[in-house]
Amino acid sequence: MSLQNITVIGAGTMGNGIAHVFAQHGFRVILVDVNATQLEKAVQTIDKNLERQVSKGALTAEQKQQALANLSTETDLTKGAGGADLVVEAATENIDLKLKIFSQLDGIAPAGAILASNTSSISITRIAAATKRPGLVIGMHFMNPVPVMKLVEIINGYATQAEVTEKIVALSQQLGKMPCVVNDYPGFIANRILMPMINEAICSLYEGVAGVEAIDTVMKLGMAHPMGPLQLADFIGLDVCLSILNVLHNGFGNPKYAPCPLLVNMVTAGKLGVKSGEGFYTYT
Ligand code: CAA
Repeated sequence: MSLQNITVIGAGTMGNGIAHVFAQHGFRVILVDVNATQLEKAVQTIDKNLERQVSKGALTAEQKQQALANLSTETDLTKGAGGADLVVEAATENIDLKLKIFSQLDGIAPAGAILASNTSSISITRIAAATKRPGLVIGMHFMNPVPVMKLVEIINGYATQAEVTEKIVALSQQLGKMPCVVNDYPGFIANRILMPMINEAICSLYEGVAGVEAIDTVMKLGMAHPMGPLQLADFIGLDVCLSILNVLHNGFGNPKYAPCPLLVNMVTAGKLGVKSGEGFYTYT
């Protein structure tokens, strides 16, 4: 079965970016969210980001219009996923919510449809176990900002069928992305390596080794990272960083993944980075 009808669940930053790239590459996309206002905002964001690509000469105005024509929205999961060849779930990073969504999707999506999750750290094997089709469940982890970042980290759950992985690899290439296939262990690869670096940067600040600007400048100019680790943590969301570090810490039982107390304090105080207006930097 070719994958042509794509349903994306969740109209937040990741969901709108994922819907954007599928629509841009000629797929029929239904973006589903329970919140109609969030869906409206997502379509406006996609329009704005497509326009950014037009102004850079990466897309023509006609290609932008075609991408928008490929996209529709839906608040009802049954209507949104009933005809899907592939569902990509990008809902809030909450295990109970994801298990509920996958259990519902299993009853709604056509029998052969592939169910993918954009989770950054929740076990694909556990998500798959909420369905009666664990062989058709896989991780499809996009990076933010999705239209720009080339990687799709593809995560094989314990039961994921080899032909499902092959299809998702080929599909990611059709989106102009570079797929990397990994196995289902805490943090997969991206966050198993990224989060300890961010945590170490926060601990360096906490211990007074250097200030925010110095830490970020060392990594930007010394290691050619586009953003320093503290700016990147603000961009990802400090609550998300904390939750992924907890997954690593609990999953491996190794103290090297213990979140820095400063990170825990900042999240407790509601300093979550860009989305709350303040993290290591302030945002207006
Ligand atoms: N849609 C379309 N295009 C976009 C865009 C979007 N949402 N955001 C940026 N762009 C484009 C810009 O138009 C620009 O295009 P050109 O190169 O053609 O000019 C290009 O991307 C760069 O953007 P800017 O000039 O505005 O800004 P910048 O040079 O500072 O780059 C950045 C911004 C791409 C975000 C860069 O800072 C960067 O790469 N940062 C690191 C991002 C990163 O590490 N992401 C992964 C986070 S981890 C994650 O997502 C997973 C997880 O599980 C936590």
